[in-house]
Amino acid sequence: MLRRLHHDQPAAFEFTPANLDWAKAQMTKYPEGRQASAIIPLLWRAQEQEGWLSRPAIEHVADMLGLPHIRALEVATFYFMFQLQPVGSIAHIQVCGTTSCMICGAEDLVAVCKEKIAAHPHELSADGKFSWEEVECLGACANAPMVQIGKDYYEDLTAESFAKILDEFAAGQVPVPGPQNGRYACEPLNGLTSLKEYEGGRPKHNASVALAVDLKDTVKRIDGTETPVLTPWLGKPAPATPANGRAREPKPAEGKPVDATGNTVQEARAQATGAPATEPAAAPTKPRALSEPREGRADDLKLIKGVGPKLERLLNSLGFFHFDQIAGLSAAELAWVDDNLEGFKGRASRDRWVDQAKVLAEGGQTEFSQRAKKGDVY
Ligand code: FES
Repeated sequence: MLRRLHHDQPAAFEFTPANLDWAKAQMTKYPEGRQASAIIPLLWRAQEQEGWLSRPAIEHVADMLGLPHIRALEVATFYFMFQLQPVGSIAHIQVCGTTSCMICGAEDLVAVCKEKIAAHPHELSADGKFSWEEVECLGACANAPMVQIGKDYYEDLTAESFAKILDEFAAGQVPVPGPQNGRYACEPLNGLTSLKEYEGGRPKHNASVALAVDLKDTVKRIDGTETPVLTPWLGKPAPATPANGRAREPKPAEGKPVDATGNTVQEARAQATGAPATEPAAAPTKPRALSEPREGRADDLKLIKGVGPKLERLLNSLGFFHFDQIAGLSAAELAWVDDNLEGFKGRASRDRWVDQAKVLAEGGQTEFSQRAKKGDVY
């Protein structure tokens, strides 16, 4: 299918303040210089906020990530999950048209869409409240035919039950998602054949439906105030209530002392070993470095996985020429090296340079160094 930007574009796009906080937090999840990796979450949040992706939204995200606009346009136009045209103000309906759903009546559901919404997919209904499209398998084949409305699945549909659901949405209600034919989940149509003992004590809804009922965000536009920004690494503690908004079940041993002393597991371990309950992170300490390689011959640091020609030059400029120098780094010194890898911060510990260098310094080979010597790495 040809995916083009809509002919009618808004003048500008801005994230809401809370969504902007969230987007900036997402960007910190990636190593320095790799912020472009956040493109899909950011585009998705822009779509969650507006319902669809306008050109200003795509370009705004590209600007945040320091990308040429064309790179973000490539992503937005490649993935079908991104809507490139306005969607219904109440809901965008995605009808599964793949094998199971087609055999079980998806074409009847498409006929309902054509009758009640618009003659063609991606066309707004006359009142602007709905739009629809046919999509590939949504992974609920045992409950065919089904549709996705907003974030949730409506399953085991007939033309009548689907039409009724659309009417309820139009009236401002959010019908309970899940199977619409009385089934609990995806058990056989004539009832459970095994594990019957669980039938009596089960909760009112299956887990997916229960979550949808709890969150109440089936067709809600997301402005970022729904959930806290989860960035404990930026000094914002993880909230008591997790991102899905549901109260977390306490773990069986949570808050219970490990023994009669009343200590936690960490405190008990600390008492036994004399170590602090939680090791403080080592403050970066500048390691001793060399002004030039010993005997004028540097080791080939590119045999360490994660070190390319650019990083080798950088390491040399920092005074590192030999495997044994890297092998001998303490945790605090490794932290200093990590901090000084401009554009590659954190790579030394992430790629375990010290462990690799220890092997190489002793004349051994790592799996990577063997491949590098054969010219089998890029
Ligand atoms: S075929 Fe429709 S959900 Fe898989």
